[in-house]
Amino acid sequence: MTKTRASITAVGGCVPEYILTNQELEKMVDTSDEWILTRTGIKERRILKGKDQGSSVMAAKAVEELLQKRGIGAEEIDLLIIATVTPDMVFPSTANIVCDMIGAKNAWGYDLSGACSGFLYSLTTGSQFIETGMYKKVVIVGVDKMSAIIDYQDRSTCVIFGDGAGAVLLEPDQGGNGVIDSVMKSDGAGCKHLHMKAGGSRRPSTRETVDNKEHFVYQEGQAVFKHAVKNMADVTAEVMERNALTSSDISWLVPHQANTRIINATAKRAGLTADKIMVNIQKFGNTTAGTIPLCLWEWENQLKKGDNLLLSSFGGGFTWGCIYLKWAY
Ligand code: UT7
Repeated sequence: MTKTRASITAVGGCVPEYILTNQELEKMVDTSDEWILTRTGIKERRILKGKDQGSSVMAAKAVEELLQKRGIGAEEIDLLIIATVTPDMVFPSTANIVCDMIGAKNAWGYDLSGACSGFLYSLTTGSQFIETGMYKKVVIVGVDKMSAIIDYQDRSTCVIFGDGAGAVLLEPDQGGNGVIDSVMKSDGAGCKHLHMKAGGSRRPSTRETVDNKEHFVYQEGQAVFKHAVKNMADVTAEVMERNALTSSDISWLVPHQANTRIINATAKRAGLTADKIMVNIQKFGNTTAGTIPLCLWEWENQLKKGDNLLLSSFGGGFTWGCIYLKWAY
């Protein structure tokens, strides 16, 4: 019997209009365009402005675009999974809110917290519902409004992050395309290097936590960098090895966009040249769960049926992973 796989059949995306450039950041903190560009590869990032605008706004737009491209209605969605660390609210889930916004009356959904690997965790999870035959249409969104949890007086983090959303539709495929393999990893010992100190049940919000700026991203950049370079390259190599893939088999590497130096290290280890790597960090910065689907969104027109894609990530948690999939259209 032919195996049913979960194929991506449409992609949507949304980035806010406001562009925060390195030059503007130079006026806000002690930094320079040259430092940001050489250390990270980022030139500008998008910021969602406006009162009461949460991650749901970008997620809903990305899903609506995907539905329009595929020519289906929101009521056809069975399940919506939203990968995010910046949900609209602690509860209900942003998936709940987005289903209501777009009119996905027959769907249920939930948020998944996997930081920068959230989209890959969600894609792996969502694929299972297709592979088992339980559902026909599963939507996976990666979205973060990082500007909501960034201290714009902290030069070590504010230059890196941006806001954005990307979404993919998963449908059953019996023609050999779709998600072929995935290796997902996590290590809670990494928490100390990258986290948000307050606002959770361990340290609820108080005037003191606000005064101490404990509701912002805390990152020990160098420690995260070292783990990212090793683990993202290792897990990508592992997926290539267990699927007997050589660099010439790979059409595209779709890496999490945290730092061009991390991306280049992963590409080098996989033996891939620059023309096979999706990089848009210069325009959007690190949108956490949004980076990988936003790459697919931008490169969609260049992808061909049967292309071999490796999707790789590393981020807060620590969380990391790699998915091997064959493009279906
Ligand atoms: O996606 C989630 C996972 N996150 C990551 O993967 C991020 C991984 N880490 C990184 O990408 C890099 O560590 C950073 C981009 C965050 C920082 O780059 P770095 O090359 O590791 O710099 P550093 O932290 O070692 O800092 C070097 C110097 C320091 O000054 P001193 O102590 O040498 O005088 C910093 O204070 O650069 C200084 N610095 C800055 N200078 C200008 C830090 N941030 C800035 C800045 N502008 N924005």
